[in-house]
Amino acid sequence: MSQRYAVVLAAGKGTRMKSELYKVLHPIAGKPMVEHVVDQLESCSVDETVTIVGHGADKVQDLLGDRVSYAVQEEQLGTGHAVMQAGKVLEGKSGTTLVVCGDTPLLTAETFADLMAHHEQTGAKATVLTAVTEEPDGYGRVLRDADGQVEKIVEHKDASAAERSVKEINSATYVFDNEALFTSLKNVGNDNVQGEYYLPDVIEILQREGETVSAFTAADFHETMGVNDRVALSEAEKWMKRRINEYWMRQGVTMTDPEQTYISRDAVIGPDTVLEPGTVLRGRTIIGSACRIGPHTELTESRVGDRTLVKQSVASMSDIGSDVKIGPFAHLRPETALDDGVRVGNFVELKKVSMGKNSKASHLSYLGDAEIGDAVNVGCGSITVNYDGKNKYLTKIEDGAFVGCNSNLIAPVSIGTGAYIAAGSTITDDVPGESLAIARSRQTTKDGYLKNDAAKN
Ligand code: UD1
Ligand code: CA
Repeated sequence: MSQRYAVVLAAGKGTRMKSELYKVLHPIAGKPMVEHVVDQLESCSVDETVTIVGHGADKVQDLLGDRVSYAVQEEQLGTGHAVMQAGKVLEGKSGTTLVVCGDTPLLTAETFADLMAHHEQTGAKATVLTAVTEEPDGYGRVLRDADGQVEKIVEHKDASAAERSVKEINSATYVFDNEALFTSLKNVGNDNVQGEYYLPDVIEILQREGETVSAFTAADFHETMGVNDRVALSEAEKWMKRRINEYWMRQGVTMTDPEQTYISRDAVIGPDTVLEPGTVLRGRTIIGSACRIGPHTELTESRVGDRTLVKQSVASMSDIGSDVKIGPFAHLRPETALDDGVRVGNFVELKKVSMGKNSKASHLSYLGDAEIGDAVNVGCGSITVNYDGKNKYLTKIEDGAFVGCNSNLIAPVSIGTGAYIAAGSTITDDVPGESLAIARSRQTTKDGYLKNDAAKN
């Protein structure tokens, strides 16, 4: 098979976004637009992908790393000029080249494959991916001759009123014969309203030279949409959300209100799990089956087992087992690991904590830097005092220990197996297993004190 290359255009600033963040780095479903594009290309058996960077080059390179190679476009003189920068790597090589923009995040690997297959079947030198929309404003229009053959693409700004009435748009995704692409780019001028070197002009150039140029029309315009401003960004977000949610519903996930359920493209959800409104799953969050998540729950880069309930809570970089109950209003900070059957109730904050099977912290606790065994009960209001203003220290609570309400465990400290801490204790010393520790001042009761006249004055 001949070589396949891809060029991703990502050098523009994205002026219309009115943002400090470069356009292609704006996220859709929690992931930068250009990363969606590169993810899809990776499943297209492309031999080499060259990303054109300019504005925000460092940040784009930090994001994509060595998944692609790079060519720098120092000055943004247009999409044709951008592709020319890939010439250093690709010019003169035989094969086909897929060109795609970093601001079309909804395009799928399937569409790229269909486009390339069409290109190969027609033996064209260039094939453009088009789409039909009732709202073509802003897009380049695809002009065809009486036989339906593509003649050229005219930018919205350069188009006449008649041309603007055309509803077939250029998605700015193309497949080219690689050698023909770089030869034709040399003939692209910048005599247009924007004074830019337009990549779509290659279509007209090849067509005039008598080469076959072809078009492949996407089934769904929304997949091809380009994001130039925040309105389009929210539209793209909406379509991506719909796509992701429909996918998971078809895999057996219930969403009581998909419009209000936000799932990252990298999340994984097991069947019979119910996502309630306001659920946000970020990054690579993995949820097992038959869980109930939400309402109003945010899970970031976390793993959840099966049959677990998480209600009105926040967790990040946490590992949550099966049959766990969390919330409402719990906060699991990074490096929390909850074994099966754990219960974490309202207003409990956990950080760098492991809790063994069936352990509980049901109400109003802060537990940080702690290793907690199985079947431990942490009473209401108890906290690990893990920080002395300079360093963090470890608290260990072994299996079956019972920490009475409102206890302070001053770390470093260990509570032995089956030990019992009396409510209200401030524990500064290790407590051996099977022992009772009481660390509070004794109550003094002054019998009838307020009946005494002297006390009243
Ligand atoms: C482009 C197409 C238009 C098409 C639309 C589809 C051109 C001239 N126009 O218009 O026909 O309908 O996409 O979304 O190609 N870029 C660079 N360097 C540059 C200029 C742009 O790398 O010098 C990159 C941008 O970062 C962006 C992409 O190319 O990712 C497209 O550029 P943009 O300015 O958004 O083009 P549109 O006006 O949307
Ligand atoms: Ca665009």
